[in-house]
Amino acid sequence: MRHTLVRTSSLVVAFLVCAGLSLRGEGPPPQSRPATAPADAGPATQGAVLFRQECVFCHGVSAKGGMRGPDLTTGAWSHGGSDEELTATISGGVPGTAMPANNLPPVEIAQIIAYLRTVQQPPTPSRGDVARGETLFFGGGRCGACHIVQGRGGRVGPELTRVGSARSRGYLIESIREPGKFLTEHDGTGEAGARRYDTVVAVTNAGQTITGVAMNEDTFTVQIMDTADRIHSLVKRDLKSFRHEERSMMPAYGAAQVNDAALDDLVAYLQTLRTPTPTKKGGPQ
Ligand code: HEC
Ligand code: HEC
Repeated sequence: MRHTLVRTSSLVVAFLVCAGLSLRGEGPPPQSRPATAPADAGPATQGAVLFRQECVFCHGVSAKGGMRGPDLTTGAWSHGGSDEELTATISGGVPGTAMPANNLPPVEIAQIIAYLRTVQQPPTPSRGDVARGETLFFGGGRCGACHIVQGRGGRVGPELTRVGSARSRGYLIESIREPGKFLTEHDGTGEAGARRYDTVVAVTNAGQTITGVAMNEDTFTVQIMDTADRIHSLVKRDLKSFRHEERSMMPAYGAAQVNDAALDDLVAYLQTLRTPTPTKKGGPQ
């Protein structure tokens, strides 16, 4: 997410500033800002340092989730939450995903797990009803018109087949109540930072207005997916106008459309949509 990146880079800046100051002898003495935790620090403190070095890039500051890796603080784990299962995931990675295998020694993995335990929220007992949530998703809520879950649904919004692995409860609620607060990234082509599910509006010379999400875009052409799942391949030069709008195609679902009980049902359903563990039997390679 963009806000995570911003925070990361301001941390980096803060770090560089401190490093610069101490180089010039004006800052605090170097030993007060250790690059690694002191040897007598607790395992969780050591683990926090390791996490910042090895994992923050994908899992974000405080393990709250980044653009490449899921939130690790939700207390719900796709690949198991016991110490043993977490050790297997961290050392073996998750084959077929961006989660890499690691050569970290067992003691360091144990420190990282100790750190993850300190940021993990107690698993919230699901208040909603999964079956009612699913019915609402594909029925009255019309979520399925724009989102694919396990091969079923529309394509103008991001696929949600694994959304429960990647996103916290708070994020899911915000996505429904205030879509577009943070526009989801997509993996089509386009300028870095522009691969987001924002809304684009193109007007052709014939006067037709096409509104949708730009799945692929370069300087000269754009492919727009509309809410009827049609792809429009357009040459920008041939358009009367073309613009990106900083908003989501997803309507905001306020309490009038989805009351709090229905919201709980939807979130309970979304939280069941998780990555299966591919190598349960074989263990980490
Ligand atoms: C290059 C990006 C990347 C890096 C670096 C990375 N991860 Fe991951 N991690 C991922 C992705 C993506 C997933 C989700 C895999 C999936 O779809 O199940 C994941 C999943 C996980 C899971 C499983 C979560 C669950 O719900 O079961 C754990 C635990 C984890 N990572 C810990 C770590 C730790 C600890 C580090 C640092 C040593 C790390 N990761 C480094 C991308 C990364
Ligand atoms: C008209 C199409 C449309 C409808 C209807 C719709 N969505 Fe979305 N949804 C989108 C688009 C586009 C995005 C990506 C932009 C954004 O972040 O808001 C999105 C984003 C999301 C996300 C964030 C996914 C992520 O990984 O970041 C969730 C969760 C979500 N929608 C759930 C729902 C639910 C639940 C409903 C029904 C109550 C629903 N959507 C209805 C189009 C739609």
